[in-house]
Amino acid sequence: MEKTRTLLLLLTSSIILFKLYLFPPTRSHGDLKLEPELELTNLNNNHAWPLLYANDVVSLNGKNFSEFMSKNRNVMVMFYANWCYWSKKLAPEFAAAAKILKGQAELVMVDASLEKDLAKEYYIQGYPTLYLFIGGVRQFQFFDERTRDVISAWVREKMALGTYSITTMNEAERILTTESKLALGFLHSLEGTESEELAAASKLHSDVNFYQTTSADVAELFHIHPKRKRPTLIFLHLGAGKATPFRHQFTRLAIAKFVNHTKHPLVLTLTIQNAEFIFQDPRKQLWLFAPAYGSDKVISTFEEVAKALNGKFFQLLHVYVEMNSEGVGKRVSQEFGISGNAPRVIAYSVRDAKKYVLNGELTLSSIKSFGEEFLEDKLLSQSDQISESILKLPSQSEASYQLRTHE
Ligand SMILES: *[C@@H]1O[C@H](CO)[C@@H](O)[C@H](O)[C@H]1NC(C)=O
Ligand SMILES: *[C@@H]1O[C@H](CO)[C@@H](O)[C@H](O)[C@H]1NC(C)=O
Repeated sequence: MEKTRTLLLLLTSSIILFKLYLFPPTRSHGDLKLEPELELTNLNNNHAWPLLYANDVVSLNGKNFSEFMSKNRNVMVMFYANWCYWSKKLAPEFAAAAKILKGQAELVMVDASLEKDLAKEYYIQGYPTLYLFIGGVRQFQFFDERTRDVISAWVREKMALGTYSITTMNEAERILTTESKLALGFLHSLEGTESEELAAASKLHSDVNFYQTTSADVAELFHIHPKRKRPTLIFLHLGAGKATPFRHQFTRLAIAKFVNHTKHPLVLTLTIQNAEFIFQDPRKQLWLFAPAYGSDKVISTFEEVAKALNGKFFQLLHVYVEMNSEGVGKRVSQEFGISGNAPRVIAYSVRDAKKYVLNGELTLSSIKSFGEEFLEDKLLSQSDQISESILKLPSQSEASYQLRTHE
């Protein structure tokens, strides 16, 4: 009996110590010298206090949590228990922070002592626990001073950080189903130089969400080839089913330039991920075949053409094939019957499988008029531009089948 009492005493005092450790009083409040356990008892009679904040703070439960998360990008969640002194103490500061952050972030309260499933899903082990969710994914836990100013500045700082981490497959899947355009860095570490370069690049693109991961499984789910070395990056335009891998040095400028170019591509670079999408695109297509290296001039000329014909964007797709790159570029060039290193421009109409090659020098004006005549169906009459022997185009299904099975 004596032994049990001692054990019990030990247990309760360690719980109190544990609670003090987990829920320390905020530094700025001098009025918190009362014994926490006394305060807890007083609060037992007063469970309705969360209602006081209903005007500023959203209340969520297990039934409406997910839907709210999928509709709101920046959400700070306070998991609380209404008998908890520190939860009650935090609530007015939290509600004030909600006012400060109005229009930028949503502040949410969840009674974790009632919502057991949510508490379990987010490993809530103490009250209150504060998390910032971004894009429906829990990203940061708040440990700082629990005042309106510190909370709101912290949320703003995290939101402006630009890069968010993905650590689990659940998060990855949620992001893939809610985002439309994003960049994902596959890094050695979520902190340090690589992460800083990525974050710096992200600040130049407020219209693209940047993520980072160290998980090979997550990277693969985002179409990063398992053999790609870290650090690397992929740009996904999920709406269009396009994935564009980054193949340059991992610096902020190179990343920013790549994203600049990829988010509104005038010219699509053919990759294993977008090949099927391109082969099925019903638009007329202008293809440039050129080696990956030493073709800067002809590629930028091709981009100039794309820019000049951009008014006709919905009629004409510009595709660039790295003709000697291992993987898709080389194979598609072979399938098109194109050899050597000389750049070539080809017009291809998916709908009727007609194709034309541009003979002569590749200049801005020659490619541009070739494209315009193609759009106006004028190339039809110029049978001398059709060269079946040079051009052997695979059928759509054959091409995508072969692309899929070879990689
Ligand atoms: C979620 O459901 C709870 C309980 O029905 C309700 O009090 C709360 O207002 C709901 N929140 C939202 C944002 O719909
Ligand atoms: C991105 O594009 C804009 C305009 O198209 C340009 O002003 C800016 O310098 C580009 N940024 C980089 C890093 O290339």
